[in-house]
Amino acid sequence: MRFGIVGAGKMGGEIEAMASRRGHDVVWKLGSRENTGGAGLTRERLSDADVVFEFTNPAAAAQNLSALARAGATVVCGTTGWDGELPRIVEEFRSGGGALVHAANFSVGVRQFFELAKLGAQLYPPAGYAAYLVEEHHAEKRDAPSGTARRIAAIVESESGTAPSIASVRAGTVPGLHRLVFESPEDEVELVHRARGRAGFARGAVWAAERIAGQRGVFEFGQLLGEARGQS
Ligand SMILES: NC(=O)c1ccc[n+]([C@@H]2O[C@H](COP(=O)([O-])OP(=O)(O)OC[C@H]3O[C@@H](n4cnc5c(N)ncnc54)[C@H](OP(=O)(O)O)[C@@H]3O)[C@@H](O)[C@H]2O)c1
Repeated sequence: MRFGIVGAGKMGGEIEAMASRRGHDVVWKLGSRENTGGAGLTRERLSDADVVFEFTNPAAAAQNLSALARAGATVVCGTTGWDGELPRIVEEFRSGGGALVHAANFSVGVRQFFELAKLGAQLYPPAGYAAYLVEEHHAEKRDAPSGTARRIAAIVESESGTAPSIASVRAGTVPGLHRLVFESPEDEVELVHRARGRAGFARGAVWAAERIAGQRGVFEFGQLLGEARGQS
């Protein structure tokens, strides 16, 4: 497949490497300088790419996604922190006829962690345990808590009726760590997901691109994974 990448940062580089490992071609890659206000998303570039990856920052993503939706593009977006714009973006993709798959976390290991969090929240709070969540990311990550932490907290709240508190650490080069703890006065139980690098996010994002090509509409990554599990 032919890929375009918006966001020439850490994830842009990981996706380029993973795409080539899986036999795809990256036909263009845009940094912020070439794409002020989405100006780099020209008709010519978009017609060259089967799927466009969007990994930038929350403000840029909201603009880029609108431009991509209007052009009817097929997009994999992993940028975090723009959830407030989701209803508008969904509408724009529906009326533009393109496709979008989005996720705050494209790691398959994290997606399975959501299932473990759900099970933990079904088992421990009814037995008198309280939950809290700690997430750690590299110093450059702008949003806190992470989208993944907010998702885990929402799962725990919906299963147990109580939202866990979240502590966020932004330091060093940590690719991503989420620790969900259930504690009682006597003991504690921890569920930990520790990313070893960014390749796991890139693998999931490229898989999503392979999966969404030729489809229309808006999907969350977990939906595509669930459908794939159903078929296997
Ligand atoms: N969903 C997932 O699995 C997952 C995994 C990891 C990260 N993320 C998220 O993905 C996003 C990117 O992460 P990252 O680690 O790659 O960050 P990064 O290294 O800071 O890269 C972001 C890049 O986007 C560029 N950019 C900013 N505005 C742009 C625009 N309008 N057009 C094109 N490029 C633009 C930046 O360029 P300048 O440096 O010139 O501003 C920067 O190179 C973040 O929101 C992060 O939270 C998601």
